[in-house]
Amino acid sequence: MTQESVVMTQSILFVCLGNICRSPTAEGIMRGLVQSAGVEIEVDSAGTSGWHNGALPDRRSMAEAARRGYDLSGQRSRQMVVQDFARFDLILAMDRSNFHNLQAMAPSGAGGKLGLLLDYLPDQPLREVPDPYYEDGFDRVFDLIEAACRAVLADVAG
Ligand code: 4NP
Repeated sequence: MTQESVVMTQSILFVCLGNICRSPTAEGIMRGLVQSAGVEIEVDSAGTSGWHNGALPDRRSMAEAARRGYDLSGQRSRQMVVQDFARFDLILAMDRSNFHNLQAMAPSGAGGKLGLLLDYLPDQPLREVPDPYYEDGFDRVFDLIEAACRAVLADVAG
């Protein structure tokens, strides 16, 4: 057994660009899954930009989540800060652009905490969660994120 596999992941941060569509959806889903599983994992989300700081999740994300039984209304957008690299064990980006921006701001040694959310779904052809802000497709985005969050939880707490 490797050392990595015995160190429990206790905190997960999901990151997208605006922290109003994809990463709040991931946060809400993972909060629900963690609660159902009865495990203790801190869950949060942030944006690489601060464009929507303090804002509620996008109403389309909130509506899709509500339709699936998840409540995102307690969440507010915030920008990723460098301290997040110390605070979280696992930091998962929604797309490669987010991932590269995180790599660029990561303190030395913290890069190993970074991953792409969809790498937890290796049999699924997409590697990036599509940005629904301009494109729509919130139902498809929700499906992808939910499947990936289940895989993440199975990996860290299974
Ligand atoms: P998110 O989506 O990164 O999934 O929250 C976006 C939200 C806002 C913008 C872009 C993407 N925007 O350009 O303001």
